[in-house]
Amino acid sequence: MNTSSRKVVSVGLLGCGTVGASFFRLMEESRAQILETTGAELSITKVAVKDKNKQRSVYIPPELICDDPMDVVGDDSIDIVVECIGGINPALELISASLEGKKSVVTANKELLARHWNQLHDKAAANKVQLFCEAAVGGAIPVVRALEVSLAGEKIRRVTGILNGTTNYILTKMSEESLAYEDALREAQDLGFAEADPTADVGGHDAASKLAILASTAFHSEVKADDVFCEGIEKVTAADMDFAKRSGYSIKLLAVAETLGPNDSDDLPTAAAGQKIAVRVYPAMVSLTHPLASVRLSFNACFLEGAASGELMLYGRGAGGLPTASAILGDVMTAVSCASPAISSALLKRAEIYPVGKLENKYYISLYVSDQSGVLAEVAEVFAKNKVSIRSMEQIGMFDEARLVFITHLANEDNMQRTLSELGSLTCVEKVGSFLRVYGDE
Ligand code: HSE
Repeated sequence: MNTSSRKVVSVGLLGCGTVGASFFRLMEESRAQILETTGAELSITKVAVKDKNKQRSVYIPPELICDDPMDVVGDDSIDIVVECIGGINPALELISASLEGKKSVVTANKELLARHWNQLHDKAAANKVQLFCEAAVGGAIPVVRALEVSLAGEKIRRVTGILNGTTNYILTKMSEESLAYEDALREAQDLGFAEADPTADVGGHDAASKLAILASTAFHSEVKADDVFCEGIEKVTAADMDFAKRSGYSIKLLAVAETLGPNDSDDLPTAAAGQKIAVRVYPAMVSLTHPLASVRLSFNACFLEGAASGELMLYGRGAGGLPTASAILGDVMTAVSCASPAISSALLKRAEIYPVGKLENKYYISLYVSDQSGVLAEVAEVFAKNKVSIRSMEQIGMFDEARLVFITHLANEDNMQRTLSELGSLTCVEKVGSFLRVYGDE
């Protein structure tokens, strides 16, 4: 698309829910600034909705509204399509058709990009148009563009994010106000940042999709949502929260992507030269000394580690209509200025995924045990046999209520899993309680 000499750029909007309506409003309010910044007059000329008669939070002139998204996608006068429908179908067909029709696309659709990254970027490159997705990860936080543009020459080693506002809100409320998990979830739903089906939030799948996008961007190799090892926050207990608070940790749902491999390549920041990418989402005990521990409520943050840049952290509102609309508007304006080229299809390859079982972590484990002599020795033997070294141990409660809480040194994940399974079959262990990775505790 060559818009540099054009006065008017026409935008078609697919979907007018919370995000779509916020984008419509923001664009209307920002007309003067957009003209000044891009030299172009942007206007939304068509809005495709499911139900034309639905009451909306923003006034949309009726002549702009249609209920067939193909009316937007197939309209030759539209230059840029903004997709705010979400989900895989029909968004995949609509975005594909838009790109084939030489329209640049701006989308907030994390599920779709986390499954069809290469396919869609390939299509954009083949049709010489842009595909932007800043709004798909971290709402208003400009992390995708930071990785794509500002850090383009950086060898990114690791990306660690708090990428889901709902779970961060729940964990904060459980920790700071001792709220029950269910009550904190209800509050998050009432505040409107939980997904329609909150299992995507609490199960870690929403964060996994966002992590796949960040990893694909940071390492220039396609990582899919299904590659991400994923554990949710459903099993985090009040007792874990108490331990964390007393011991200098904050429990966070972390999304971690890093390159691991035989050597540190001097190439571009790809997972080149035999390097593999490890990707996982899980609740973790984060040391209070780490900047991510201070990210509260529904805020998101991305902690980036680059070979030359060192550590960077981006922080902001990861959910909500206006923060997401802000990222969409930035993408639309970038598409108008063509400031960022489409990813060359030559760079698109599938990532090699590093097996989670080979990773090393420190761990927090709580065991419900009988409070008798010899129990600790029996438990310690299982740790020792599996080469898991214990850093600290505490007994909490006595007799019928006795719980042993361990923090380990760095240990191999497969060894740790074997330890858990063997501990679970000891007669002196009534139940293996919680199991969390420990992060930032150098
Ligand atoms: N449900 C998401 C969250 C918001 O809680 O972060 C949109 O990605």
